[in-house]
Amino acid sequence: MNSDSFDPEAEKQAVAPDAPESPSRREFLETTGATVAASTVVSFATPAMAQSADTAAPRTAISVSVNGVRHEVEVEDRWTLAELLRDAIGLTGTKIGCDRSECGACTVLMNGAPVYSCSQLAVWADGAEIRTVEGLARNGELTPLQQAFVDNNAPQCGFCTSGQLMSATALLAANPSPTADEARAALVGNLCRCSNYNAIVEAVVAAGEGGVA
Ligand code: FES
Ligand code: FES
Repeated sequence: MNSDSFDPEAEKQAVAPDAPESPSRREFLETTGATVAASTVVSFATPAMAQSADTAAPRTAISVSVNGVRHEVEVEDRWTLAELLRDAIGLTGTKIGCDRSECGACTVLMNGAPVYSCSQLAVWADGAEIRTVEGLARNGELTPLQQAFVDNNAPQCGFCTSGQLMSATALLAANPSPTADEARAALVGNLCRCSNYNAIVEAVVAAGEGGVA
């Protein structure tokens, strides 16, 4: 080696002769690995804890009519109505967006009134009549409201559509010929991430008397 060769150790001492010795790459990786391993233990423990909680969850037998079909079902007391409809009964047309009473994607009709099914316990539906988006069309024929949604391009991504339809169905049952302002007011609890509000309101108005109904 000639005198012009680069010596990294000599260079390090020359630049910072008193600097504390930094951890080696091996030490760094070992420390990081221990942290990740600790986190992994926690995340693996969580499903096990949930499983043991499952076995302890109290259950209640309820009787609920969904789209005219009666269901005698035993539910966990902590289930929401949305979970009952989607997971136990298999009606996945009802969507869960926020799961906390903010977006309206989960709207269904309970005894004719729109409710957020993510925020209703399933046990509260005991004895109730529930109508979901699957209960709108009859024998393959869309309701005038559904047809108006199609005709006015009201669904974009479609995630909010079932909730919008259920709120609008309740409106049209109470007010068969709503104005645009009345439609907006009735749908104020239904958010559309695609911001297609104008088309949705136009569809609801069109579905009223004098429209496609
Ligand atoms: S999912 Fe129920 S209000 Fe958003
Ligand atoms: S159509 Fe996409 S969220 Fe409303």
